[in-house]
Amino acid sequence: MQLSYVEGMERLVLVVQQLATARTLEAVMVIVRSAARELSGADGATFVLRDDDHCHYADEEAIGPLWKGKRFPLHTCISGWAMLHREPVVIANIYADPRIPHDAYRPTFVKSLAMTPIRRIDPVGAIGTYWATQYTPTPEQLRLLQGLADAVSVALENVDLLANLERRVEERTAQLQMINDELESFSSAVSHDLRAPLRAIDAFTAQLAEDHGEALGSVGLAVLKRVHGATSRMQALVEDLLALSKASRGVLARDQVDLAALAREILGELQRADPQREVQVVIAPDLRVDGDPRLLRAVLDNLLGNAWKFTRKRPRGRIEVGHGADDCVFVRDNGAGFDPTYQDKLFRPFQRLHSSTEFEGTGIGLATVHRIIHRHGGRIWAESAPGEGATFSFTLDG
Ligand SMILES: Nc1ncnc2c1ncn2[C@@H]1O[C@H](COP(=O)(O)OP(=O)(O)O)[C@@H](O)[C@H]1O
Ligand SMILES: [Mg+2]
Repeated sequence: MQLSYVEGMERLVLVVQQLATARTLEAVMVIVRSAARELSGADGATFVLRDDDHCHYADEEAIGPLWKGKRFPLHTCISGWAMLHREPVVIANIYADPRIPHDAYRPTFVKSLAMTPIRRIDPVGAIGTYWATQYTPTPEQLRLLQGLADAVSVALENVDLLANLERRVEERTAQLQMINDELESFSSAVSHDLRAPLRAIDAFTAQLAEDHGEALGSVGLAVLKRVHGATSRMQALVEDLLALSKASRGVLARDQVDLAALAREILGELQRADPQREVQVVIAPDLRVDGDPRLLRAVLDNLLGNAWKFTRKRPRGRIEVGHGADDCVFVRDNGAGFDPTYQDKLFRPFQRLHSSTEFEGTGIGLATVHRIIHRHGGRIWAESAPGEGATFSFTLDG
């Protein structure tokens, strides 16, 4: 079907818009092969890419097979000629033209052709159009083809830029991942190695107090007590850092986990360790989720441990574990609460909103929880007001 020049221009505008959104070479080729045929009214079109000193017939759309997938040396084919001479070629009778490799054309339907280089100053390819009967394309058709080729050169540059950009992002991500892994295994190794000397300090100070308590006197014993306190805090820190690093490493197991049963168990342990506390516990009967059982236990250990800790000053504490909207699970308490302005900070390591004289801690628990939830493809958030208790909710998608 032959388009009028105005119809051709309208079609070209659409094609240019399509090309502007093409993100891959394949997408560009799909657009070009049919547009080239339509704009020129040809019986076939090829999309040729320059590949060093070869022409690569990358794609085609035609009434019969042409050379899709084949490569020819630049100086033996007409697309190579158009690229090397940086100008379009029109050949009404291909068998009368010595630039044409006649053997390559004999098996095809082609009698006439027009070849338009892509990117005039330094061609990166060409658009071929072919007719089964002798035909000379009109100047309008040639202008439309040139318009198409110009749009294609921009589209190819976009594709190239995007591919480069994506490659750079991938490289950076891989680098960051590597640095992250190194840091992770470093902190894990350090934490590990700190355990033994800490145990030794603790054991020797205990021995000192026991065997030489009288000689040390009350002042000396008080100093030893502070050594013991500091060692315990460091031990807690080391254990928490190890837990954080374990939360980030290793493959994620997927199992059905009943968070309700887990919560009952953990709160039972907390109550046994702190028998004089009076805490009302409300747990939904059934909270089944899919996830890594060991890591989900760490999540509840931390959230319930916090709820237990921050309700300490309430004469009657209350801790609730249940199902919220949108399939989320929440842990709610009526404890000290916190200023919600800083709630994003909570999930970062070492960030605490309460002083350690008021509530002891390392500030690593919620960072661990955050990592675990994210590794599951979920989300965690907190709601609170000072003195009003706190609610931590999370989802586990993916
Ligand atoms: N249930 C809660 N109620 C009030 N504040 C909380 C609660 N859970 C966490 N927070 C706040 O978030 C901070 C970080 O929590 P976390 O990482 O578990 O550290 P830690 O428990 O060692 O202090 C806490 O120090 C506290 O300020
Ligand atoms: Mg905590």
